[in-house]
Amino acid sequence: NPEVFILAIESSCDDTAAAVLHNDKVLANVVANQLIHNQYGGVVPELASRAHQQNIVPVVDAALRKANIQKEQLSAIAFTQGPGLMGSLLVGGSFSKSMSAALEIPLIAVNHMHAHVLAHFIDEDGFDKPSFPFLALTISGGHTQIIRVDSFFDMTIIGETTDDAVGEAFDKSAKILGLPYPGGPLIDKYAKLGNPKAFAFTKPKVAGLDFSFSGLKTAILYFIQKQKLQNPDFITENLNDICASIQHTIIEILMDKIKLAVKETGIKQVAIGGGVSANSGIRAALKATEARYGWKTFIPKFEYTTDNAAMIGIVGYQKFLNQHFETAAVVSKARIQF
Ligand code: KG4
Ligand code: ZN
Repeated sequence: NPEVFILAIESSCDDTAAAVLHNDKVLANVVANQLIHNQYGGVVPELASRAHQQNIVPVVDAALRKANIQKEQLSAIAFTQGPGLMGSLLVGGSFSKSMSAALEIPLIAVNHMHAHVLAHFIDEDGFDKPSFPFLALTISGGHTQIIRVDSFFDMTIIGETTDDAVGEAFDKSAKILGLPYPGGPLIDKYAKLGNPKAFAFTKPKVAGLDFSFSGLKTAILYFIQKQKLQNPDFITENLNDICASIQHTIIEILMDKIKLAVKETGIKQVAIGGGVSANSGIRAALKATEARYGWKTFIPKFEYTTDNAAMIGIVGYQKFLNQHFETAAVVSKARIQF
């Protein structure tokens, strides 16, 4: 294999990220988070695009400096083509196109969801890579999917959410509890101190491998409203138990479906990715299946679970080896064929 240096750029949502990879090793992985959205309780697309425009040059510079690589050494530029917010995607896409034209090196388009799956193939000490075929559970603020992965470029969605993503279930539940955005990490934090069986929320009945989370959010809202009528301090007095119970319900919903997917496919290797895979309860539940059911599970290094450019770079590396390049006509896509 040749010596390949990929500059990767990710700008699909609210993080501006750049990474430099030497083959499948990460030399630099830089992320500029946009804290501006927190005060609005969610990502404001217009503000995200503007922040990307301000951040993109410094973030790329920082990645190249950290990797100690001159831009003339780069083999190709990989960027997130979609899915995501159009205004955000355009910033990374246009920047990548211009830079590849200026350096006269190939341009590689990457599907953000493929990248969450293939993040497991970044070479890191202490982290095993799955072998094909395996199942991937991608859980983030925008997606909830079970994917059958047969090779680097042969993936099939076998289950997905019919409404909210699991990250939204965490964030919207947190909002009902008056917690700031994004609430997922806070629910995780308080859940560690609470009783997961303190309150029971009914799980949705969805056929097959698909998910639904909007009913859970409504059930939590009604439950909290009812409790507050009797005790205005209900949330503050029971925050840990409420968070533990919500998290427990979400974990059960996810684990029920992934168990069904393993049963239906006969594939016992399960890899998780996406921002929600940072959740300590989900990690523990998944890990427990190794001793209990003989599964092999894969959880990426924390910095590769939330949105990052290293995962775009590893897809870029695989596409580079396959000479899968784009012409200057390539466009960003808010929705993209899986
Ligand atoms: O992958 P990501 O960074 O961005 C998207 O592509 O959406 O995922 C962000 C989501 C948010 O909904 C956030 O609340 C959730 O991941 N999240 C968590 C945890 N850390 C991040 N949810 C539950 N527990 C966590 N520890
Ligand atoms: Zn993501």
